[in-house]
Amino acid sequence: MSEQIEVLLSEEEVDARIRQLGEQISKDYAGKDIYLICILKGASFFACELAKRITVPVFLDFMSVSSYGKSSESSGVVKIVKDLDEPLQGKHVLLVEDIVDTGRTLDYLMKLMKDRGAEDVKLCALLDKPDRRVVDVRADYTGFPIPDEFVVGYGLDYAQKYRNLPYIGIVKV
Ligand code: IMP
Ligand code: MG
Repeated sequence: MSEQIEVLLSEEEVDARIRQLGEQISKDYAGKDIYLICILKGASFFACELAKRITVPVFLDFMSVSSYGKSSESSGVVKIVKDLDEPLQGKHVLLVEDIVDTGRTLDYLMKLMKDRGAEDVKLCALLDKPDRRVVDVRADYTGFPIPDEFVVGYGLDYAQKYRNLPYIGIVKV
């Protein structure tokens, strides 16, 4: 079965916004190294493009998590499928995620990074669905606030499909 995808944010819009985020982050972290943590798999495309636009030193690490529970909505009980390569003691952590939805996953992850001794933890999300928030999580850097629609592309999937679209689209089933 194939779905219709309606363009929400074009490739040009996404790329231009990532450039701006990179400039802002480079200014804010002047004189510091960034320990950029990409949450797999969804944030991978965004994290790579963003890292390319940051001019202070960037160290990359990856984490893969899955949320326990049957429903399609995240439960907030997070299982670490692939953990970070390095300890976080004293690091300036920039957590990079594809989208903040209920906020449960990121609430858990940001607390975890602080517990592990990071000097500071900031969040950069490509997309934000504020209407869906259950836990009060605010991104320090947000690409685009979007309406409560299921989106794909730029790393985001629908049943593992469409991650490779170079734009953000809405799935019309
Ligand atoms: P939450 O904020 O803990 O509810 O979960 C966020 C995660 O849910 C994201 O990292 C995505 O993997 C997934 N997600 C939420 N909304 C969408 C969407 O519109 N398209 C694709 N994945 C989504
Ligand atoms: Mg994800």
